[in-house]
Amino acid sequence: MVKMKKQRKDLMKQNFENKENICPGYYYYDSKLAITTEELQDLYRFTRWGRSRSLEQIEKMLEGTSMCFSVRYNGKLVAFCRILTDFVFRGSLWDILVHPDHQGKGLGSSLLRYALGHPSIRSVPIIVTYTSELIEFMCKLGFETRDGLLILQRRPIEYS
Ligand SMILES: CC(C)(COP(=O)(O)OP(=O)(O)OC[C@H]1O[C@@H](n2cnc3c(N)ncnc32)[C@H](O)[C@@H]1OP(=O)(O)O)[C@@H](O)C(=O)NCCC(=O)NCCS
Repeated sequence: MVKMKKQRKDLMKQNFENKENICPGYYYYDSKLAITTEELQDLYRFTRWGRSRSLEQIEKMLEGTSMCFSVRYNGKLVAFCRILTDFVFRGSLWDILVHPDHQGKGLGSSLLRYALGHPSIRSVPIIVTYTSELIEFMCKLGFETRDGLLILQRRPIEYS
């Protein structure tokens, strides 16, 4: 635990070039090491689509994810999102979530600006995402709806 805390401290605010996007008092991380599967499961519990995810699934998911971005407040994980990418041509953005106690303060927008503007991601020309509920929110961050985007949904969203 002490080692994990030290690693987290070392990772704090890494690669954050545009500091005007930071919410005061919140610490932003760009490493998977900054998250534990248990904390992430607790955060997923607040969502319709993530609440059934098991620790085993989350662990495997983190291993297979290209980049995870997270935010802590008073040491507690309060926001998360992740990107799958080849780091050159294509990327996709998933699991954008902010703890209910911290919503509506600009944290979700600042986390997405941090993730999408990250040096490893910002030159990727096409990033796609899927959300049925947040179209307006995503459009404020530069996303647009497009004909031709397709989805193969094998299971209901509650179990996917
Ligand atoms: C959606 C979510 C990430 C937004 O985070 P947040 O920190 O509350 O958002 P912000 O404070 O940065 O809000 C930015 C703007 O988006 C708007 N907004 C926030 N949530 C919204 C929503 N659910 N629908 C539409 N607009 C929304 C805000 O009103 C604000 O508008 P303004 O700039 O005109 O004031 C957060 O509410 C959340 O975690 N929701 C539950 C999880 C979820 O459904 N995730 C999406 C699936 S991938």
